Amino acid sequence: MQQIESSKEIQRFALESRKAGKSIALVPTMGYLHDGHLELMRQARGKADLVIVSIFINPIQFGPNEDLDRYPQDLAGDLAKCQAVGVDVVFTPTREALYPESFQTSVEVNKITKCLCGAGRPTHFQGVTTVVSKLFNLTLPDTAFFGEKDFQQLAVIRRMVTDLNFPIEIIGVPIVRENDGLAMSSRNAYLPSLERKEAAGIFAALTQAKNLYKQGLKESETLCQAVQEQLDISIKNSFKIEYIKLYDADKLTEINGPITAPAVLLIAVHLAGTRLIDNLKL
Ligand code: PAJ
Repeated sequence: MQQIESSKEIQRFALESRKAGKSIALVPTMGYLHDGHLELMRQARGKADLVIVSIFINPIQFGPNEDLDRYPQDLAGDLAKCQAVGVDVVFTPTREALYPESFQTSVEVNKITKCLCGAGRPTHFQGVTTVVSKLFNLTLPDTAFFGEKDFQQLAVIRRMVTDLNFPIEIIGVPIVRENDGLAMSSRNAYLPSLERKEAAGIFAALTQAKNLYKQGLKESETLCQAVQEQLDISIKNSFKIEYIKLYDADKLTEINGPITAPAVLLIAVHLAGTRLIDNLKL
């Protein structure tokens, strides 16, 4: 396994590999890798001749009062995990390499970035689409893997790839969960042990709503209300709900009233100062 830091070098590697007829799969990450990230890599490994993983804590997708300065890191551990799942190249650029002082371009997807996470994090998705565009141009992948854990991010990337005609297949990977149901996330490391235990209540509440849906409860508002009530029961510590919403899973538009299209229940919760997101398709 190779580690490459320079943008020029990774692009040269990608160009030469493509010329030699090799297919490339990209897995973009911010590091502090867990089994969710590794599942993306395993699927990528099964799909292409070469797997490139990027590890880069992208400053422009963090808001002014977010956790950029304390985002967890463990490069040595990450490299060992990448090696173990058969990654070929890990791209670890510096901030200066991706954003030199002269940098002044951004890529923005409109409508679907304004709701859900975009409502509370207005500059977030522009930061994501800008860095992912750069990573696509630097690594020239045939396929790129993203987790359904970040359901809106996946929809935004798909929109961007379609709108800007990137010749890349985007593959969505189902959420990998801890044994108690909590969606794996690098940010789970922030949770003190009591809150960590209670955080399992998020998936439990989504699951309970899905069961109500299966039993015939089809009103969006009632299902969201049920999630909220369940959380109030299961989480004793103070927490803040940022949103609980039912969305059309394909169009990413809010469903009000009865559910008629394939739907996804999405949630963002702040627990002990940590922002957790999750979702469940109904
Ligand atoms: P990061 O949070 O490190 O996540 C990298 C990828 O792993 C994303 O596609 C995310 O959806 C996926 N992922 C995270 N947890 C997962 C889980 N429990 N199950 C399945 N997939 C999971 O998302 C980002 O980084 C950044 O925004 C990035 C796309 C790298 C751009 O900077």
